[in-house]
Amino acid sequence: MNLSDRVNSIEISGIRQFYNKVRKVDGALSLTLGEPDFDVPSSIKKYMGEALDKNITHYTSNEGLLSLRKKISSYLDEFKIHYDEEEICVTVGGSEGLASVFGAIINPEDKVLIPSPGYPAYSALTKLYGGEEVLYKLKEDFSIDVEKLRKLIEEEKPKAIVISYPSNPTGATLSKNNCVELYELLKDKEIFIITDEIYSGIVYEEEYNSLAQFEELKEKTIYVSGFSKLFSMTGLRLGYVCASPKYIKGIIKYHQYNVSCAHSVTQYAVAEGFDEALQESKKYVGEFRKRRDYIIERLKDMGMETYIPGGAFYVFPSIRKYGMSSQDFCEEFLNQYKVAIVPGDAFSSGGEGFVRISYAYSMDQLKDGMDKLEKFLKHLNK
Ligand SMILES: Cc1ncc(COP(=O)(O)O)c(C=O)c1O
Repeated sequence: MNLSDRVNSIEISGIRQFYNKVRKVDGALSLTLGEPDFDVPSSIKKYMGEALDKNITHYTSNEGLLSLRKKISSYLDEFKIHYDEEEICVTVGGSEGLASVFGAIINPEDKVLIPSPGYPAYSALTKLYGGEEVLYKLKEDFSIDVEKLRKLIEEEKPKAIVISYPSNPTGATLSKNNCVELYELLKDKEIFIITDEIYSGIVYEEEYNSLAQFEELKEKTIYVSGFSKLFSMTGLRLGYVCASPKYIKGIIKYHQYNVSCAHSVTQYAVAEGFDEALQESKKYVGEFRKRRDYIIERLKDMGMETYIPGGAFYVFPSIRKYGMSSQDFCEEFLNQYKVAIVPGDAFSSGGEGFVRISYAYSMDQLKDGMDKLEKFLKHLNK
């Protein structure tokens, strides 16, 4: 007996595969994971306790607590993104949000345009639902080549495109110029725009650009986000999807049969503790910025070519000049210096020639990791 062809067609994520290798190396320092190292904001903890005391432990409506959807709606206004509470479905993390979106829109053999390098779930979900991934390679600065995209859309006739900024793995954000070019390209096309903005709360720039800001694109845009990164609560599993009334109902149907609803205690805690938690999260962003600046300076001193990320908590330097595959580079670094970073090819072919370093770790750990990377590079250059 075999499992389904669809399950057999995907692998566990390259990030996890590498993380599993790291766990076998005694005393290894891991700079691999994409989760903030801060404690969950105290207001969230407080209201989780209150939720239990009040026995808010039953199913909520499928789409989630109204109080939380209202909070999300007004939070998104800050980004000039407007969704009413009826256009929002609260999900079990961004992951289940993405799964419900892909499940609701993909028919077998539908094509989905996916950024390369990009977060591995997009390709895996496309295949799980019987669709076909069409990778679009990002430019050297990890922006989108709109002319190439135009051709791909004409040739492949995809049903959906995934846009993912601030990006995992590159930390790149969407520039105003690129955003307007994309809007011009996509406004007349019949295509779903799935915009994954889970890192939108962790940005180091004033201006925030998103295709979800364009009223004219609203009907076909599906916005995915969540609280894992913003409130440092990856284990509490809370995310959300926003879409026009025409499509959100189908997404909620999918979500209903998958999970019924998101965790009631967490939903309540985020709804009630939101404003205080948001204040606390601003401190995390300040800390991430310091770490980013530190890592960038160290990498530059070592002669590594790197793009300066405008958001998230990753840097994605090039390793091309060392003439090794990203897997070999990371394995040697791990074996010789006991430091783990993620090979770029875990983010599809466009990530080859790069490595992802997560700076969601303490300054002491980052310093240790950078000192060892410096020694490793000196050894490679010999
Ligand atoms: C780009 C991106 N989207 C979605 C997710 C899913 O996050 P979660 O399910 O924890 O909300 C992640 C997690 O790393 C991510 O990097």
